[in-house]
Amino acid sequence: MPHSTLKKNRWQDHYTRKAQKEHYPARSVYKLKEIQRKYRLIRQGDHILDLGCAPGAWLLYAAEQTGEQGCVLGIDLKAVTISVPSHVRAITGDIFNSEEALSATVDYQFNVVLSDMAPATTGNKHIDAARSQNLADEALNLAQRFLKPGGNFACKIFQSGDFQNFTGEVRRCFKTCKTFKPQSSRKASREIYVIGMKKL
Ligand SMILES: C[S@@+](CC[C@H](N)C(=O)[O-])C[C@H]1O[C@@H](n2cnc3c(N)ncnc32)[C@H](O)[C@@H]1O
Repeated sequence: MPHSTLKKNRWQDHYTRKAQKEHYPARSVYKLKEIQRKYRLIRQGDHILDLGCAPGAWLLYAAEQTGEQGCVLGIDLKAVTISVPSHVRAITGDIFNSEEALSATVDYQFNVVLSDMAPATTGNKHIDAARSQNLADEALNLAQRFLKPGGNFACKIFQSGDFQNFTGEVRRCFKTCKTFKPQSSRKASREIYVIGMKKL
């Protein structure tokens, strides 16, 4: 087996084992933990919207951070099958058709919008980046629509030529915009998180 594959497997095994031990359904939870440690986007009592929430690791961690006074609403194409605390709710659906569902079910605006969405990858980096860009654009659109003024946003995107346009748009909508590559994200992966703080 090539050295790079061995290294990637060791990296995956480390975070997968850690997630299993700590009862999270996916190792992606450590990316949100790093984001939260650095930027403190989520506060006790917050209302959170989690786009692309399955299998549910971010839902669980966000719910720990809000406590029972807050709530977390997730949406994903796939059903969330793990058991979640009573202040968490997951809807199965496509975010491109979620405006109506969100407007109907939500009578408040969110303090934080998170998106860890990723497209089904094809292996073609141009197609995958374009699809990721499309998801990030829609996440930002929903944040503009459903995030309270002063609210925070964190969004995964695969870096590509259009990436600068996206950060430019986040910078336009939020007081502060940062990009962040968590240590728990594989170095070889083109994913990065764009953080918008204090929606204008
Ligand atoms: C990396 S996973 C998210 C992991 C999640 N943050 C967790 O911690 O469990 C990416 C998710 O994005 C979802 N997704 C991709 N396109 C979507 C869309 N159009 N609408 C809703 N969810 C989508 C996928 O179904 C997938 O479950």
